Amino acid sequence: MNSPEPPFSITVERCFSLGASTYQRSASLQAAVAARLARLARPLASSLPPGPRADLGAGSGLLARAIESKLGGPSLLRLDACAALLQQEQPPEHGLQRLWDLNQGLPVELDGASLLASSFALQWLEQPEQELSRWRDALRPGGALLLAVPCRGSFRIWHQAADAAGVPCTALPLPDAQGLMQLAASALQLRHCQLLRFSRPNPSARAFLHQIKAIGAQASPAARLQPGELRRLIHHWPGPEHAIVWHVLVLVGQKR
Ligand SMILES: C[S@@+](CC[C@H](N)C(=O)[O-])C[C@H]1O[C@@H](n2cnc3c(N)ncnc32)[C@H](O)[C@@H]1O
Repeated sequence: MNSPEPPFSITVERCFSLGASTYQRSASLQAAVAARLARLARPLASSLPPGPRADLGAGSGLLARAIESKLGGPSLLRLDACAALLQQEQPPEHGLQRLWDLNQGLPVELDGASLLASSFALQWLEQPEQELSRWRDALRPGGALLLAVPCRGSFRIWHQAADAAGVPCTALPLPDAQGLMQLAASALQLRHCQLLRFSRPNPSARAFLHQIKAIGAQASPAARLQPGELRRLIHHWPGPEHAIVWHVLVLVGQKR
């Protein structure tokens, strides 16, 4: 008898653990977006109220470090479900990292937060819209939300190749940008809100799937492709003239 599949959040954590040692040198898009988000939030630095600050799904701390360097002020608490990724930040600052499953909402000490930041993490949660509402509601008046999240419409060539091959698409289902924007706008003054389009080279299906694995982002709620299905997907994968495109919502808002 087959053993039952673990809950999806356990699979996500295992995949990020396996990719933890190569995350920092492979996550170039994530590093660029973290730097951009911190730059966009800089004008808010002097108007933020006192209160806790956190990076939600911090991984190796790319975004937390970018914010600390651009905005100054108190350090950010790094929350993540993956111990191996948190440990990539060396030396870890004492008391600043917390192993935490964001599917449970936020820890109580973040009630009345001054700054909540998150990059490339919300899409891994079971209910991204519900969790975003909780993050928004945890901010105190004047507190800031800094969010970057890949959205529906990304990886079109992967979906098209899977359709053409007649195999399931194992890309992670991504949230709808409009829905996330509306949730944020209902209680935040949006200082910046843009759906950015990042194109990355597409050398081959194998190279792309390898890149995804190098950052531990290969978990999927869909069943793993059988070897024959994978061969068909690779056969139908478009050539390098078709780029890999990410649609990333980048949003900076301040609680009214
Ligand atoms: C692609 S990484 C992004 C890490 C970091 N924010 C960055 O920009 O480099 C996604 C992160 O989300 C974390 N994550 C996924 N599901 C989570 C959950 N349920 N609770 C907490 N963290 C989670 C992963 O462990 C991983 O560190």
